[in-house]
Amino acid sequence: MTPSFNPRRACASAFRLATALGCGVALSALLLAVGPVAAQGPAKARAPAEPIITGGKPQRLIVNPTEDPSRGFAVTWRMEAGAGKGLVEYAEATPGPAFEDAVSTVMATSEVVQYAPRNGAPVSATAHSAVIDGLKPETLYVYRVGDGRTFSAWRQVRTAASTAKPFTFLYFGDVQNEVESHGSRVMRMARRLAPDAALALYAGDLINRSDADREWAEWFDMAPDLHAELLTLPSPGNHEYGPPVEGRQALAPQWRQQFTLPRNGPAGVEALSETVYQVDYQGVRFLSLDADAMSDHPELAEATLTWLQARLADNPNAWTVVFLHYPIYSTAKGRDNPELRAALEPVLQRYGVDLVLQGHDHTYARGRKGGPVYVVSVAGPKQYPAGQDDWASRKATGVQLFQAISVDGGELTYKAYTATGALYDAFRLSKPARGKPARLIDLAPKSDELNLRRAP
Ligand SMILES: [Fe+2]
Ligand SMILES: [Fe+2]
Repeated sequence: MTPSFNPRRACASAFRLATALGCGVALSALLLAVGPVAAQGPAKARAPAEPIITGGKPQRLIVNPTEDPSRGFAVTWRMEAGAGKGLVEYAEATPGPAFEDAVSTVMATSEVVQYAPRNGAPVSATAHSAVIDGLKPETLYVYRVGDGRTFSAWRQVRTAASTAKPFTFLYFGDVQNEVESHGSRVMRMARRLAPDAALALYAGDLINRSDADREWAEWFDMAPDLHAELLTLPSPGNHEYGPPVEGRQALAPQWRQQFTLPRNGPAGVEALSETVYQVDYQGVRFLSLDADAMSDHPELAEATLTWLQARLADNPNAWTVVFLHYPIYSTAKGRDNPELRAALEPVLQRYGVDLVLQGHDHTYARGRKGGPVYVVSVAGPKQYPAGQDDWASRKATGVQLFQAISVDGGELTYKAYTATGALYDAFRLSKPARGKPARLIDLAPKSDELNLRRAP
């Protein structure tokens, strides 16, 4: 297909790079002349930094995967407006502070950003983004961010192994509402019950109002340790998109300013940049789809399907996980997505996708249809009544959940826990060989002691 040109999205993109006059939410954005990201090798980084304007403490610190997470990771953060350059210091972790003698530095790409929310005061800040590359696989690194004088605490991130190896990842459905007050306990419980998790997937609707910067602040405040030390893979929901402008939904500018995600989605389709992407991690291919863009724009759906088929056809990994916001099979009345299902389901089945992780319906359901296991889940407090979930073998409403999913060779073990730490659902997929259909072993607790079915 011909890559689409979307003036609204081009505007959102230009927001990162230059003055964006005419954008509804953006007043202006000024790229600071710090040049491209560049590793600077082991340095005498302990030398006093040059004096520069400081902008308070680093905020909204997060690590995202690069295309090859065995060789690096991406770091994004924000400083108060008026801050100068941004830099990341990193080194192989040591048991004590000895790593400080071997610190390398990477300069961030930086931009001053301003928002005019529909409600609330204008916001101004400096957004920083850096990619750390050339690292050793399966190695624990320390890193910190700052402006040369003010730094975050040292954080630790482990690079992936370069081959298949057991690991655990987290999956969260919509958090969306009362993000810090209600969402954060789910995050803390996830950290407690899966302390070794390496990744955290979000299936959209991270926040409620796309342009409410204070909601984005809450999202970062709900789990600062998790964001700064687990590689985060977010997929956008409809609540990350603002009201239509010139007939197009606009992705919240915060998305591309606050996350640094692989730019390996459909080539040349800027509208899907950093919302559609692929990450291979220790034998699992993760594919994020932009469900809202697919549903609203046929040309973006076509571009996504072409890309998805290519990524599934050429896939050396034993396991494949697709995550997107709108469910292929819905759980709540009046929320069916027949066009999305018609477009995606044949592709997911044909190429043997194992697991499809979704959100949007503010209920829980898990079922298998023709190959893939489909899950709808919700991490936040907003809950809808169920009623259209006959496809599901396990379902709930009125409960906040998270998932810890472990992969070990030919076995994938899925566990869904409530905010109180109770195991609500579990199953195992067992594959005799790569490319063969997986056998599902149901491990869900037999008695539904939580009495979650059809709760009001
Ligand atoms: Fe949604
Ligand atoms: Fe939602």
